Parts: sequence; structure tokens; C-alpha cells
Amino acid sequence: MDKDLISNDGANLDFAQLLAALSATATTRRRLLQAGLGSAALSFFGLPAMAAPTGRPGIGFTAISISSDDIVRVPDGYSVQLLYAWGDPISDGPAFRADAGNSASEQAEQAGMHHDGMHFFPWVEDGKPSSTHGLLCINHEYTDDGLLHPDGMADWSHEKTRKSQNAHGVSVIEVELKESGSEFRWQLVRPSRYARRISARTPTRIAGPAAGAPGMRTGDDRRGNVVFGTLANCAMGHTPWGTYLSCEENFDGYFNGLVEPTADQKRYGIRANGAGFRWHEYDRRFDVASEPNEANRFGWVVEIDPWKPAQAPVKRTALGRFKHECATLTLASDGRVVVYMSDDQAFEYLYKFVSSDRFDAGDPASGGRLLDVGTLYVARFDADGKGRWIALQHGQNGLDVGNGFADQAEILIRTRQAADLLGATKMDRPEWLAVDPQSGEVYCTLTNNRKRLTADAANPRAENAFGHIIRWREEQADAAAGAFDWDVFVLCGDPENPDPAKRGNIKGDAFASPDGLWFDRAGRLWIQTDVSGSVANRGDYQRLGNNQMLVADVASGEIRRFLTGPKACEITGISATPDARSLFINVQHPGEAAGGRSSPSAPLAGSGWPAKQFAGVTGGRPRSATLVIRRADGGVVGT
Ligand code: FEO
Ligand code: CA
Ligand code: CA
Repeated sequence: MDKDLISNDGANLDFAQLLAALSATATTRRRLLQAGLGSAALSFFGLPAMAAPTGRPGIGFTAISISSDDIVRVPDGYSVQLLYAWGDPISDGPAFRADAGNSASEQAEQAGMHHDGMHFFPWVEDGKPSSTHGLLCINHEYTDDGLLHPDGMADWSHEKTRKSQNAHGVSVIEVELKESGSEFRWQLVRPSRYARRISARTPTRIAGPAAGAPGMRTGDDRRGNVVFGTLANCAMGHTPWGTYLSCEENFDGYFNGLVEPTADQKRYGIRANGAGFRWHEYDRRFDVASEPNEANRFGWVVEIDPWKPAQAPVKRTALGRFKHECATLTLASDGRVVVYMSDDQAFEYLYKFVSSDRFDAGDPASGGRLLDVGTLYVARFDADGKGRWIALQHGQNGLDVGNGFADQAEILIRTRQAADLLGATKMDRPEWLAVDPQSGEVYCTLTNNRKRLTADAANPRAENAFGHIIRWREEQADAAAGAFDWDVFVLCGDPENPDPAKRGNIKGDAFASPDGLWFDRAGRLWIQTDVSGSVANRGDYQRLGNNQMLVADVASGEIRRFLTGPKACEITGISATPDARSLFINVQHPGEAAGGRSSPSAPLAGSGWPAKQFAGVTGGRPRSATLVIRRADGGVVGT
């Protein structure tokens, strides 16, 4: 094959041409299918049979009002289907029990709790990606153990620990659009050979420079290269070689039993009682006093190949260790892989990784290794609208033994401490990143930061209660560049707030705490919100309603409300079929209780969703869920 097709075309890579060339022989077709490359590449860069859209697409639906009701609403002419709620069997396994009475082993074959980031991988047949059949990878970020067990956290036990661990991680499910009576509905394929639950107990390989390092070794794993599971899986990314990236965010909360944290533990938030999980009582890995290095084995980006159900997930340590929100891939002009990443905590940083080698579409199986060798950078935003990427590379920029970093593995395990030395810009809680398919500009949600006392250029509001979206353009439009220009795309808020600092500058519908962020293939920017249930629908947030999803036209700046969620939920996770006619989103933690744990004696106190909205759905508990949104006339969503 002609490798120039890939390496010279960079961010504007035309996979229509690539697929046409690659699909010329039956052998290559088989290879594409086996590797899932076709599906990944196509969903990555667009459809094969259509030219990349030119011009901005516009927004074609009528905006909806805010809502404080316990229901999902979408514009007229659209339908919402419930696809996959917590406790639903991934394949032909056990059904959900309304009293949360499923066992730990049953939970291991069911949807986890608290759905978050997600990606649809289309089936590929004859070089064409399907829009009616594929695999969905879905993160399950954390659990509300008050809802997970019939009696909540009372009489904590080995069984409850296992069930909680099994409700974390990732689902891979096979889904298909089928004719059902007079309509089409998405459904899970049951049984499916691809259906899989990855949990906080699944053997996972550790790869890259930190694998085997002294700080990664534990009593269970003296070689420091295998860890049981993944957790706190927030948002995600996907690769042009057909794999899913799941990001470990608030891993610190699972570690407990500490007496006096070290400075390094404090820098990552490891604290005496964690976030109140009690896993450490029955799984010594989470007892920091017994196993101090186990926490070093979380906080990574985890690669999962959904097409290979027997393959272990892989933690890619070259991408650094922090509270990873998401990992958004693009290609540099010369074909190197670039991963944009965010550390979601107040005053943390933005990062990017640039691989040393180029992506070779003719050898997709080698794709994962690109994530093991390269350079990690952290961002500095200067007041003049310029910015720099500063390398976190051993021996450079003072990152050496004299400053406490013996080698690159230590820089990666203690990424935050290394970035602290480099003058990186402290951001207002960076969440998702999205690359504009037309301009290559990168957008990032900065969800809020009330703790900020002093504004700076990139975080221009002190006590930033509503959040903003920043964007940057890499020098010479090359994602691997060392410098960029940036500006603020929008300051969120309520245009009717009497305090000018709280009004923001939204052109269109009001919202706050932007979190999920995604460009559809035509170039519309979809924004999902996560206002804390503790403040939503009150005070300054009164006129913003429940959490919601909006669409922005980045050329005009107009933002229009597309969806409102049920009570005390977060809207997060978004992906579409290649034809853009089915949109998948997640509703996380409907009815979330203050502090994140519900009372098992009143499980429905905060919300009765989704049973309240959808006929035939088992209730008893509010349940996080994946939804499919379609236009009644089968048209492209958002137009
Ligand atoms: Fe899991 Fe930063 O949201
Ligand atoms: Ca988030
Ligand atoms: Ca958030």
C-alpha cells in the first residue's frame, strides 16, 4: 500500500481514499475486519462514501426549555429510547432485580453503575462501516453503594466489596438496530461473543516506561507489570486502530486506611478515609498502610480492544498518571499520534502526548505500541494569547535526579509533581477535549472552580462558579507543534443574572458546568453539563434547570439546548453511528443524593427515572442508563 497516503495527509487524512485503496483485495478486507481498523478509522475521520463536509452545518432543531422534571426531554420530532441501564445483562445473563438483590457474580455480567464516557465502534462489512450494528464501549465511573445493595453499606462484607468492584469499569456490548413492529429500535445482541465486563478486578497489563518500576511493584505483583482492574473510569478516547481508551479519574477515593499521607500521596489526594469506600476492609490492595504502591497503579489511560474479548486491557503509562478525564486522539501532520488529556481537579493541568513513531494504517496491530514511546507535554497559557507545550522528559527542564526524578518512570508516576516544576498553567478543572474536524482547533471544557481567588488570562473569572470553554490552534495547524494560539470560546452563566460576573457571554441558551464535549462529523459541537445536584435549580442556578445537552455552531457562536435530563443527574458520554442518525448518550446518577450515597430505605427519594419514563423498565432504584436519540423521520440528528 501507499504509506504516503497516511503520513503526508495529517489531520485532513482522507480515509475514504485509504479504505478504497486498502479494500482492493479480499486479504486486506479480512485484515481490516479482524483489526477493526475500518470501523475505527471511519468513525475517527468520517464516512468512506461521502466527502468530508465543507462549510459549517448549522443547527436545525427548535431549542427546548430548561426543565426541573424527572424526565428526559428532546426537541419535537425526536425520540428517546432506553438501551442499557445499570443491572441490565450484557449478554444472556441475569436480569436486574428491583431490590438490588443481584449477587456480586451476577453484577459481573450486568451493566455497571454510573455510565460515563462511551464510544460506538461500527461493524465493518465489505469495507463499509455499519450504522445499524456495532459495539458500544461504556465506562462505569463509580458506584452509589447506598443503592447497589438492598441494605446499602450496612454490615459491609466481602460480597459487598466484590459487588461494588464488579459495578465499576467498562462494558463492551454488541448492539443492533432492528425493525420492531412499525418502528426501528436498538437492542443488545444476546448472546454476544463480544459482550464483556471489565471491572476493578480484571487482570490488566501495565505497559510503557513505568511498567516494572520499583514504585509499581506490590506484594501481589513483584514485577510491577500486572494489576487487577481499572476504576474511576470517567471519559475516554478512541484510536484509529480500533481500540477504546478508558481514563482513570478519581482513583484516590478508593484508597483508605492511611495514618499520615506522604507529600506524594497528598499531591494525588490519597487521604485517611478516601471517599468513604470500604473496599480496603476486604481487599488489602486498597489498604494504603499494607500496600502503599497500589495507588501508583491507578490514574492511567487504559487501552481496550473491543474486538478481542479475550485480550487483557493495557495501562499505557507513557501518557502520565493523574486524574485522567479523557484522552482525545488526532494525528500530527507527519502521522504521529497526538493524545490531548486533562487532569480534572481544581488548579490542575492540560497535557498532550506525541508518539515517536507514525501510525501505519497497513499495520494496525502495531497501533497500541505507539502509545508506549513518545513525549508527554504540559500546557502553559500566556496572557498574550500564545501558549507553549513543555516536555516532561527526564534530563530536560530540570526534571532530573537533583529534583527528585531518578528516571522517566518516576516522572510518569508523579506526573503532577513534575508538571509543578515547569510553570504549567493551573486550570479551572479541565474535563473533555474535542478536536474540530474542520479546523483542527482543540476545545476543552473547564467545568468550574469556586476555589480560584485570582483570575488569569486563561481562567478569567475568580470564583468561577459556571465554567468556560477554552480553545487553541496549534502552530501551523500541526497537532505535534510546540506552541499554539488560544482564546476563550464561551464563558458560561445565566444572561439574566444581575451580577455581570455571573452572566457569562453565551449567545443562546443558558448553561453552566460544561463537561462532556464532542464534535459530530459535520462539525457541530455538542456540550453536556454537570452542575452539582447540591446547587442545581437553586440560587444562581435557578434559571439553568436540570443538567442538559446543547449544540454549538462554532462559527457563529450560537448555542442551542437540545436535551434536558431527569432530576439530579449528569448528562455525559456521547457517540454516534457513522450515518449520524443514531446518537448515543448517557444519563449518570439520576437522583444523586448529597454526598453521593443514597439511603437504601428511600432509594427513590431523588428520582424514579428511568422506570418513570419508559414502560416495561424495572424500577425500584434510579438507574444510570445509555439512551439512543433518533429523529422520527430517520434524519441526521442535530440538523
Ligand atoms: Fe468524571 Fe471530571 O468527571
Ligand atoms: Ca466528566
Ligand atoms: Ca464534571
